[in-house]
Amino acid sequence: MPVEWTPNLTVGVEHIDEQHKTWFKKANELFEAGKERRAKEYINQMLDFLDEYTKMHFRDEEAYMAKINYPELEAQKKAHESFINDLAKLKSDYNQNNGNVLVIINANNMVLKWLTNHILNMDKKIGEFAKNL
Ligand SMILES: [Fe+2]
Repeated sequence: MPVEWTPNLTVGVEHIDEQHKTWFKKANELFEAGKERRAKEYINQMLDFLDEYTKMHFRDEEAYMAKINYPELEAQKKAHESFINDLAKLKSDYNQNNGNVLVIINANNMVLKWLTNHILNMDKKIGEFAKNL
């Protein structure tokens, strides 16, 4: 299943939406690398790119929520932290399994589901809140 940003995921805060699109792209690059059975070094690099981008995005999103006094910032921080841990676990599982690409391919659904559910259930509310400021 391809990991793609779709318009129903629009939050309504431009820089967040732009970052979400790139976020999907980074995830997609990782899964493509898995499907193409690329070398371990390459896949680890894609894992690092996704991890770095995710952290940068969460930092920006949390700063924005703090700036507008968004009431659900703490719940967002917890959700973000848990996904960062999922990504770290994915990287260690992959390396502990000697770079078995199945670990990456099997994570496709988990990551896709997390991204879409998080944006639909949590991030869209940021946009709703910001609209009424
Ligand atoms: Fe979020």
